[in-house]
Amino acid sequence: MKKQLLLLVLIIATAVALVGCGGGGDNAEAPPVAPRGQNTSSGNVEEGKTLFAGTCSACHGPEGLGVAGLGKDLTTSTFVMERTDAEVLEFLKTGRPASDPLNTTGVDMPPKGGNPALNDDKLLDIIAYLRELEK
Ligand code: HEC
Repeated sequence: MKKQLLLLVLIIATAVALVGCGGGGDNAEAPPVAPRGQNTSSGNVEEGKTLFAGTCSACHGPEGLGVAGLGKDLTTSTFVMERTDAEVLEFLKTGRPASDPLNTTGVDMPPKGGNPALNDDKLLDIIAYLRELEK
């Protein structure tokens, strides 16, 4: 009888130890913070949101989710995620015409979204907003 009790205690102790280990393992396996584009700018997210709504949302949608037949979904864009702010800035100034071999939709991404009033500062505000959309 006493031996059985000891065995029971042993089993419970083992179970507790296993659960403890399992918890620790989960922590160790927690995914690292997803790699994002290096946010090197001090772009203003709120300004960027307003500018995005004024120029980019026509093709990319108010939430950046894209519009069928127009702009792409920017919330899941690895193109944006994998680039630094400086690189995204260069892209936005150049755009990606339908004639560009890298174009994926056959639709023009106009330079500065077709709004020449967007200077580097304003574009960096928009990029700061794009970084928020990714999260
Ligand atoms: C006239 C429509 C239009 C406007 C306005 C527009 N875009 Fe685009 N954009 C596009 C299209 C179309 C593409 C996809 C080009 C392609 O097929 O590769 C694109 C692509 C992009 C991409 C690359 C996404 C990727 O995953 O390759 C970014 C970033 C982007 N646009 C940002 C912006 C921002 C920021 C603005 C506002 C300043 C803007 N766009 C305004 C049409 C537009």
